[in-house]
Amino acid sequence: MKDEFLKILYDRGYSHAHYLPEVDSTNRALRTMAEEQAPQGTVVFAKKQTAGYGRFGRPFFSPEGSGLYFSLLLRPQEEFDPAKVTITAAVAVAEAVEQVLGLSLSVKWVNDLYFNGKKVAGILAQGATDESGRLAYCILGIGLNVYQPTQGFGALSAIADALLEEAPQETVLATLGATILDRFFALYQKDFSACLPLYRSRLFLLGKGVTVVQGETRFQGQVAGVDDLGALLVETARGLQAFGSGEIALEDYR
Ligand code: BTN
Repeated sequence: MKDEFLKILYDRGYSHAHYLPEVDSTNRALRTMAEEQAPQGTVVFAKKQTAGYGRFGRPFFSPEGSGLYFSLLLRPQEEFDPAKVTITAAVAVAEAVEQVLGLSLSVKWVNDLYFNGKKVAGILAQGATDESGRLAYCILGIGLNVYQPTQGFGALSAIADALLEEAPQETVLATLGATILDRFFALYQKDFSACLPLYRSRLFLLGKGVTVVQGETRFQGQVAGVDDLGALLVETARGLQAFGSGEIALEDYR
């Protein structure tokens, strides 16, 4: 199974792909490889994560063989903006899911993908600096709930779901992974402005009343869009505000 999965990745040009049956977190495993000078394009897939995590250190449920859990190493030459990398990855995942599975996803700013009103994927981009404070590399982690785990989503089932009821063939999973990588690199090589309309067209909650949470502070308003830097635009009582960080509170649209 591992060999079949990797063969498809290698055949598609991802010669630095790894597949682990189990790991705490692919982001952590890849960080170790990055410190040992692994090249850009190194990608670690896992069948299961025992301690997968997302933004704000929250756990990311990653049961055996139900999803695509992987991390990609980037070594940006210039600036690194985690929001831009996250947005690019969100478009790549949505387009790959459409191409391979024929399903249409929406994006909840900034890093979540939704299908039928529930979260099916999360993205986490983390930068690391060298001793002089310069960016050394970026780890882009993607978790996509492809099919229903045998034990279900438990307490998460109100907010999380999978794309498919039944497990697809391993070749379909590998093809989906390779297609996400293809789409990501195609967009990543272009100017960010090429990606923005694709992201905006999938925006979930446009025009809806939401609460934006930034640490302890909450802002209420209506989602007006995403600006040219990828910040969320919200029409608040104080006028139009751009949020470069934070997240939309879930309770608003559950
Ligand atoms: C989020 O929902 O806030 C982001 C979730 C990111 C999960 C992926 S799964 C692969 C990689 N390894 C991790 O530990 N996290 C990311």
